[in-house]
This record gives sequence, structure tokens and C-alpha cells, in this order.
Amino acid sequence: MTIGCGFITSSLFVVSVAKSPTQLIAAKTRFRRALLDWYRAHARPLPWREAPSLYRTVVSEFMLQQTQVKTMLPYFARWQTEFPNFAALAAAPESRVLRLWEGLGYYSRARNLHRLARAIADLPSPPTTPAEWRELPGVGPYTAAAITSISFRAPVACVDGNVVRILARLTANPKRFPDSATAAKVFTPLANALLNPADPGDHNQAMMELGATICARQNPRCGECPVKSFCAAAKAGAPEKFSRFAAKQIEKRDVVRVWCRRGQTLLLHRASATARRLAGQHELPTAEQFGLPATVVSGGKLLGQKTRSITRYRIRETIHACKPPADSFPAGLVWVPLTELEHLTLSGPHRRWVTELLSAT
Ligand code: ADE
Repeated sequence: MTIGCGFITSSLFVVSVAKSPTQLIAAKTRFRRALLDWYRAHARPLPWREAPSLYRTVVSEFMLQQTQVKTMLPYFARWQTEFPNFAALAAAPESRVLRLWEGLGYYSRARNLHRLARAIADLPSPPTTPAEWRELPGVGPYTAAAITSISFRAPVACVDGNVVRILARLTANPKRFPDSATAAKVFTPLANALLNPADPGDHNQAMMELGATICARQNPRCGECPVKSFCAAAKAGAPEKFSRFAAKQIEKRDVVRVWCRRGQTLLLHRASATARRLAGQHELPTAEQFGLPATVVSGGKLLGQKTRSITRYRIRETIHACKPPADSFPAGLVWVPLTELEHLTLSGPHRRWVTELLSAT
């Protein structure tokens, strides 16, 4: 870590602009104060902050792992009504848990949260340290830090993409990182050095809030930033240049799907209960699952074409009308009465597709 000279003198006052982690750390007391004062005045009134509990913190952190606050808020509200505590969640059948999660995606989060609730319900009292929480399903370093700092004042910093961006800007770090996990590792010592030991939970939430509402990836609102005077990137007038990542190698994929309706039933593929990603969930069958080559299925009438991105894959999915198979068909395919659809879990965008196609066909 290099130490640079960071003092800009104006005619009225002296403002310190940190140019290196060392300078920023030297100014940590003022940094923490500015951040916390801003958070206490401007934090969004989110339900897990208004009426905090360990359970609400855990559920919010799981839902926020891949999802933005405004998307998950209605899910959070429904979840609290149906599963108000660890015991209620632990007692619920997995099908109901997945159904309530439907639309949030990345279902392994729901299954892990369910398993975690069962593990906690079996303990005399919940664990309190980051290391213990990391033993539980679905809890990585970020989630363990968030839960234990917020609920137990554990002095450990949360470092996700938002926090990386803030720290890269504060220090105008020009390094190009291969991925966010590598960047998080690099910035963790600085994040921990800046952490406010008197209130690590609010400090971490203040960093998250700053990243979500002010220090945005594009068009950051530096004019409203409580820590602008500490920020080397803002001083240089180029906040959007940081943080830097290697360009992702985008890979294109084509998926051909089947729309096969027989009276008031629809043919769906149900993933096996042990499938790693989609266990127990339903989708429109792919040509392969239907037992025909994609080239044959794609000769059927085109009913819809959708494009979506999952991680580095750009996936084009086409949906084609197909006649019902003669008598038997491959395992995993099920005729679902249309009246049953609402009780099943459909993965990703399949509920939207099915609803659209049912009203169009
Ligand atoms: N993202 C992850 N955890 C969060 C929290 N507690 N508040 C707001 N955004 C978050």
C-alpha cells in the first residue's frame, strides 16, 4: 500500500482527500462519524430495520443476496406473514417455501434458508459469531458478517460489490479485478480497518445504503455523499472509473422449448427432488426433455421467443407448439391441470411465459 500526499488547501479551510488506504485509515474516526450521521438521518425505513430481530435480519440478508431491495420488499412482507419466525419456517413443507420464493430466483437460497431455520430450531440458542454462522447452509462471508454485525455487534465488515465500489472510489484504486470475489478479498482489510467498532451493524448497513442510494455504479450522486471529502475518485472528477473489472466473456446459448397442451392440462417438466439447481420445480420442457431433437421441435409453430441473461450466459429461448406424445414420454414430464398451476413452483420466468401463452392460445 502506498502512502500519497492528500491535502488540498483552499482559501477558507483545509480539506483532507485520502489518496491511499493509509490516509483513509488515518481519518477513520471522522469518516465513521460522517457515514453514521448520514445513515441515521437518511436510511430508508426498511422493515427489518424498523422492527429488527435476528430472524428478520437473516431472511432479509438471504433475499438480498442476489436481489435489490425494491424487488424483494413484497416477498419479505408475504414471508413474514406466512413464516413469522424460525420455528414456523422450519415446520413448513419445502414446496410451500419454494412457492413463496417464486419470482425471486436462485432457489438454492430458499432451500438453504429453510435448512438453516431447521438447524437453528434444533439448537438451544442461535450462534453468535461469523465463524459459527458460516457453518450454516447458504451463509458465506458477506452474509455471516451482515447477520452477526447487525444482530450481535460482531466487529466484522461486510464486503460486497457495493462496498468494493465505495472503497475503490475512496482510494481511486485503478486495479482491474478478474471478478468480484477477488476484489472483495483485496478490500476486506481496508473495510475492517474502517469499521466502526462501537456500532458495526449500523456501519455496515450505512455502507450498503451508501452503495445502493448514492455511490451508484452509474451517475453517482457525489453532491449528496456524506464522505465525498474523503474520496479520491470524486476529487479527480471521475468516480465512474472505479471499481474496474475484466470484461466478462459472454457465451450465447439457444434453448428450444415445447408448448404442449391437452384440453385443460399442460405438459411440464418437473425436476427431480435431488436436482442441484431446480429441485422439484416445473418448467416448460426442453426439446431434449420431450424426447425430440431441437431441430424437429423448432419446426413446430413458434409461439414465443425470449432472451435472458444468467451469469455470463446470454440465453435465447424459443417456445414451439408440439402435439402430445403418442402414449409414453420420458421421465420427469407431467400433465398438470391448469387449475393446479397456481399451487406449483415454476422456475424463473416460466410462470410469466405460461400465463402469457395461456391467454394467447
Ligand atoms: N443489502 C444487503 N443487506 C442489506 C441491508 N441490511 N440493508 C440494505 N441493503 C442490503
